[in-house]
Amino acid sequence: MALLFLSEADPVDQWREALLAEMPDLDFRVWPDQIGNPLDIDVALVWLPPPGELSKFANLKAILSLGAGVDALIEDCTLPNLPLARMVDPSLTRMMADYVLAAALRHHRNLDFFEHEQRSGRWTFKFPKLVGDRTVGILGLGVLGSAAAACLRDFGFKVQGWSRSEKILDGVACFHGSTQLHSFLSNTEILICLLPLTQDTEGVLNTSLFAALPSNACLINVGRGRHLVEGDLIEALENGQLAAATLDVFETEPLPKASRLWNEPRVLVTPHVASYCDPRSAAAGVVENIRLVRAGRPPNHLADRARGY
Ligand code: NAP
Ligand code: GLV
Repeated sequence: MALLFLSEADPVDQWREALLAEMPDLDFRVWPDQIGNPLDIDVALVWLPPPGELSKFANLKAILSLGAGVDALIEDCTLPNLPLARMVDPSLTRMMADYVLAAALRHHRNLDFFEHEQRSGRWTFKFPKLVGDRTVGILGLGVLGSAAAACLRDFGFKVQGWSRSEKILDGVACFHGSTQLHSFLSNTEILICLLPLTQDTEGVLNTSLFAALPSNACLINVGRGRHLVEGDLIEALENGQLAAATLDVFETEPLPKASRLWNEPRVLVTPHVASYCDPRSAAAGVVENIRLVRAGRPPNHLADRARGY
C-alpha cells in the first residue's frame, strides 16, 4: 500500500515531512519519477493530474484532492469511478477569509479608485463610507463562503450570502435558489464568488447578473475563471455597472499575455493565490482519510459527482 503524491503546484517536500510526521510508516511515492510499482498505489493525493493518469493505477481505492474545488477532476471523463474527497482544512479556510477581507477592504476604502487616480496624477477626493454601511454579498456559503462571511461580519460589514440549499448563519442574511438570487444581488455592493464550478454555475458572472447589482458595484472572483464571462465584465466596467474587480482565477491559467485583463484599469489580477492549504495543518486530515480508505470506509468530505461539487 502506497500513497501517490501528484501535484506540480504544491510543495512535495513539505507534504512528505508533514505526512510522515503523522504516519511514520507511510510509503510516500511521487509522480512522475518515484512511482515504483503502480500496483502498490492505493490512495492518490492530487492537484490537476493529467487526464488519464489516475486510470493507470489498478489498485487505487480513493482520490484525495489537494484543492477544495474538484471541478477539473469531475470533468475528466477518464477519472476512475472511486471515492473523491475535497480538501477541507483550517489553513485553506483561513487563507481564503484573509484574501476576501483584504480585497473587500480595498474596494470598500476606494483604494482601487485611488490607485487609478494616482497613475493619472489626479488628487481626487472621494468621501469614505463606514464599514457598517457597506453590504458585501457572497455567492456560495459552503466551507469557504461561510467562513469568509463570518470574517467580514466580524469586521463590521453587512453580510449576505446565497447558496443552493437554505442556510441559517448568525448575522448573515441568507438567500437560496435561483428565485432569491435577484433579491440577494439588488443591494450587494461588493460581490464575492465562492461557488464551485459546475454545469449550473458556469458563466454565472455575466451581464444579466451584473445588471441586477447596484451600479458601481465591485466584483471579487475567487471561485473559478469559468464562472466569469470576461467580455461581460469588461463591458460592465466600461459602462459603469461595475466600478472595479479583483480576479484571482481565470478561464486559462496562467492568464495569457494577450489578455485584456492585464491592462484593464480597474482590474486587479492575482495568480490564483487566494488560498492554499499548509501541509502542517492539512496532513492530519489527509492521514485520517488514508486510514479510513484502508479500513474500507469512505473518506471524509466526499464530493458528489452528480451534483458536481
Ligand atoms: P463547498 O463547501 O462545496 O461550498 C459550495 C457552496 O456553493 C455551497 O454553499 C453550495 O450550496 C453553493 N452552490 C453550489 N452550487 C450552487 C448553485 N447552483 N446555486 C447556488 N449555490 C450553489 O465549497 P468550498 O470549499 O467553499 O469551495 C468553493 C470553491 O472555492 C471551490 O469549488 C473552488 O472553486 C474555489 N476555491 C478557490 C481557491 C483560490 O485560491 N482561488 C481556493 C480554494 C477554493 P449548498 O450549501 O446548498 O450545497
Ligand atoms: C484552489 O483553487 C482550490 O480549489 O483549493
